[in-house]
Amino acid sequence: MFDNSDNDYTSVDYWDSRFKDEESYEWISNFEKFSDLIVKELKPSDRILHVGCGNSQLSFQLYSAGFKDITNLDYSNVLIKKLSEKNPEMKWICDDMRSLEKLETETFDVVIEKAAIESLLANEKSIWTFSDTAKHDLRSTLESIYRVLKPRGIFISISFTPPYFRVNYLIEQKWSIEVKEFGEGFHFYFYKMSKGNNPNLEELENYLKVNRN
Ligand SMILES: C[S@@+](CC[C@H](N)C(=O)[O-])C[C@H]1O[C@@H](n2cnc3c(N)ncnc32)[C@H](O)[C@@H]1O
Repeated sequence: MFDNSDNDYTSVDYWDSRFKDEESYEWISNFEKFSDLIVKELKPSDRILHVGCGNSQLSFQLYSAGFKDITNLDYSNVLIKKLSEKNPEMKWICDDMRSLEKLETETFDVVIEKAAIESLLANEKSIWTFSDTAKHDLRSTLESIYRVLKPRGIFISISFTPPYFRVNYLIEQKWSIEVKEFGEGFHFYFYKMSKGNNPNLEELENYLKVNRN
């Protein structure tokens, strides 16, 4: 789903070795292209968790925009060690987003991910039918994110994946789902899930017809 290279994007060893040398890389899109969508969802007092942060500039740009309570999380120890030493103004945690076991329940106002969920699915042969492992990884990530969000918290996902292939999984948690498209040429998706609301199934109906596995 990412590309046709031999890179194993589902392996922590791949990311560790990549982050040894790579200083910065932005998946999907630069902040400027979706800043108007994200900034209006955030309050300066929000406690924000950025999962699968990689070496993206997103957290730094949000910090500069006035959102100071940011926790960055990734399962690459190499990355977290390097970035936590250089950037003590933010929090850095090495943990697996499929469990978020180092994080307490209901502690964040906002969880953000960008292309991290897609890396779990990178070895899938078809976007139509995921393997049991991929389904398990996707579901456990969404459950973990839901768990660490406060009762009225929001989850923002910035993604390559069209809603036909994502909404079926998102509706398994108790939150409403909004989808916006952005980008010129390539289209990307900005998903906002609001915890505590019932899933808005009628609005999502068209997406739900397509794929259920
Ligand atoms: C495609 S990169 C996206 C990085 C960054 N969010 C961006 O948009 O540029 C995927 C990131 O997710 C991290 N990751 C993959 N699986 C993870 C997991 N199970 N738990 C935590 N981080 C994970 C990788 O280490 C990598 O930093």
